[in-house]
Amino acid sequence: MKVSQYILAGVALGSLLMGSACKREVSSQSDIQLTRQPYIQYKNEDSVRVRWMTDQQMKTPVMQWGEEKIEAYKVEHRLGNLYEAIVPTADGQLVSYGIFDGKEKISGDLKTNLLKNTGKSIQFFAVGDIGEATENGGFPTMLNKELSKFDGLQFGFLLGDIVYPVGASEKYDEQLFTPLAESLSKMPVFPILGNHDYGSDLDQNYFQEWAKVGNGHYYHIAKGNTQFLCLDSRNGSEGFYEFEEQKAWVEKTLKENQGKYKWTIIALHHPGKTCTYKKVSKQLISMYPIFNQYDVDLVMNGHAHTYERLNPMDAEGIPIQLENASQINDPLKDHFIAMTLGAGGKLKEGWTPEEKPCKFEGLVTKQIHAGHVGIFEINGDTLTFNLATHGTDDKDAFIWVKEAITQ
Ligand SMILES: [Fe+2]
Repeated sequence: MKVSQYILAGVALGSLLMGSACKREVSSQSDIQLTRQPYIQYKNEDSVRVRWMTDQQMKTPVMQWGEEKIEAYKVEHRLGNLYEAIVPTADGQLVSYGIFDGKEKISGDLKTNLLKNTGKSIQFFAVGDIGEATENGGFPTMLNKELSKFDGLQFGFLLGDIVYPVGASEKYDEQLFTPLAESLSKMPVFPILGNHDYGSDLDQNYFQEWAKVGNGHYYHIAKGNTQFLCLDSRNGSEGFYEFEEQKAWVEKTLKENQGKYKWTIIALHHPGKTCTYKKVSKQLISMYPIFNQYDVDLVMNGHAHTYERLNPMDAEGIPIQLENASQINDPLKDHFIAMTLGAGGKLKEGWTPEEKPCKFEGLVTKQIHAGHVGIFEINGDTLTFNLATHGTDDKDAFIWVKEAITQ
């Protein structure tokens, strides 16, 4: 250490000691600022993690959760001070919460409506391809606005390509956490890896932003009467993450849970068969027979920055035509419905679905080329889907009642 540095360090230490000797009332207002508003992540059926970032280290990070005070702790993040508190889920109760450093409040008053896994109805959203910068045509703020219209949402799925261009932590605040702060403070989201997220080292980026569920790449969760298998399709047409292991895991997981849930949903980034401008994923198509065997109902993906709902497909990917695309009264036991929900924060420019005929005849139920988010409600035998769009009056919605044809 040079002398000049030594003197400066001494001055700094002296003022620090003087500061601590003074009564804290001298600066009763905490000067710690939140640089990232709280966001919620799933931990298990009984608890969630709330995370936030500050501009400087907190001395005594505390989460006020309803009437409870919960100690928080620092989590590794290469860019800043990331904190986390593990809090219990309430059974559909609205919980007020806030962040304190000791007694000093550093957040606003926040509210969440967390779901405990009780088998009641569930409401969730799903959308992919989100965190694009405004100067590149991105609109993550629109997504937040759309989500704010749905009071009852309990959780959501981010269907990959969460932050452009390369999933770097440096872009997360500006392009995702800040525009979506309101929505992410209300409900946990389940992140899913997309090809762009793979553009940066995952351990130094993606896995610093998101706590791992399962192995972080692919995982199983259950909510109400519905199970979700979230997959890692990495580069899509060029290859899933650990494809053989993942495919075996999908089959094993579906088999183990057979008959336990009324609804089974697969969530991933890449489409299998599709009439969008993206390539098909042969690896995903090779899983169709497994989906068929174990009664998968729905496959939702992103990747193409547009919306597309496909007709129910069988194990071979052969579609059937629905009598009524907005009211499905059929368990569709040997078929599943796939949808691309890939314009969460970015719309494909210079392309429209009508541009060229699809090579798969009779595959598509509905295409809408607009920014959107998929809103789902599942209540017993009934699944209700609404596509919330912006920039167009075109909408898609359907009600799917499984029980209707049971004799
Ligand atoms: Fe993608």
